Amino acid sequence: MLGAAALPSRRQAVQWFLRFVAASPLLSQAPAGAQERQEIYWPDRLPPLDGVVNALEIETVAEKSLPKAVYDHIAGGAGSESTLRRNREFFDRITLRPRVLVNVEGIDLSTTLFGQALYSPILVGPTANHKRLHPEGELATAAGARAAQALMVVSGRSTQPLAEVVEAAGGSAWFQIDASDDHDGLLRQAEAAVEQGCEAVCLTVGASSPIPSRRDIHNGRITAQAHLASGLTAHSAASISWPHIESLKQRLTVPLLVKGILSAAEAQSALDHGVDGIVVSNHGGRAMDGEPATIEMLPEVSGVVAERVPVLVDGGFRRGTDILKALALGADAVLLGRPVLWALAAYGPEGVERLLVMLQHELALSMGLAGQPNIAGLSRSLARVHSR
Ligand SMILES: Cc1cc2nc3c(=O)[nH]c(=O)nc-3n(C[C@H](O)[C@H](O)[C@H](O)COP(=O)(O)O)c2cc1C
Repeated sequence: MLGAAALPSRRQAVQWFLRFVAASPLLSQAPAGAQERQEIYWPDRLPPLDGVVNALEIETVAEKSLPKAVYDHIAGGAGSESTLRRNREFFDRITLRPRVLVNVEGIDLSTTLFGQALYSPILVGPTANHKRLHPEGELATAAGARAAQALMVVSGRSTQPLAEVVEAAGGSAWFQIDASDDHDGLLRQAEAAVEQGCEAVCLTVGASSPIPSRRDIHNGRITAQAHLASGLTAHSAASISWPHIESLKQRLTVPLLVKGILSAAEAQSALDHGVDGIVVSNHGGRAMDGEPATIEMLPEVSGVVAERVPVLVDGGFRRGTDILKALALGADAVLLGRPVLWALAAYGPEGVERLLVMLQHELALSMGLAGQPNIAGLSRSLARVHSR
């Protein structure tokens, strides 16, 4: 684990940032309110890895490199994609209060989750099927995460053997499983993951029967017939309820997180049933269209949890300031979904590393400007949520 000394000083970080701003004149041209896009400043070819300056540009490179149906499947969201858009748009309703003339030498991103020391609160979230983006699949993702000292949550739909992914991640990772009607199977899967070195299990709820993506239907991934029938077919996790979570938790020897909490009431249920951690998530807008943005619901969830268990959040995190807003509003860590997939597809493990390091540096820079030298000192007073 690298110490804080590996981070740039505030002055270096500001210089780094300004250099890239200068090199990227299109930075301010994202269409207001739309799903944010960032054109790349390399008109004739795809930029080399050190030519991209932020997570949004990496997505543009991935879009240009991937077959349309693959790009659309990853980028898309459920139904009209209103939740997908809202995840990003709501960040603009939150402002950060700068604090000047505070000593912020030696910014420290380190934090602790379930007793595990982490270099930064930026984690690789669980996403399925990495082999479709890179021949080494999750092994490449894990190598990139390891190089950036970031914890990886491995999807239960990994295309590489879990034990090998954990090894590639440096021996430490968490495992994610989808809620299902096979309750005993869930326990078996979770126990197997623990045996293979996973230090926490994250159960995803509320995403087992997503509203299909219109892009997938038009690209032929889902037939229109199957789409019409999907509302009538049984949910694949229709029978699971809080008591099952409680019994799973009691039988596991590692912390159990529930991913897919979006309200204070559900967070309270999670606490009542002994859950060890909560992930505020709407599955990147891929499950039920019409749900609120995750950053919008974070304050009420973190309010009811009141630091009794860790609260993590995902959905639309693309910039260091997005991450700082979540940490100020009560999150203990942030998970990245699509950005990691874009980085993997565009540049392989080095891309994943660079994405994570860029976001770590962006977070460090914004913490410096906010007068906050460490994660533990971040508080609600740093962020203001505006009604519009
Ligand atoms: C292509 C794709 C595959 C995903 N696969 C999983 C998965 O296997 N398990 C899971 O819990 N969430 C999965 N997710 C949801 C992510 O964990 C995460 O909640 C979401 O992507 C966060 O939003 P972001 O993509 O805007 O960062 C997936 C998301 C995408 C885009």
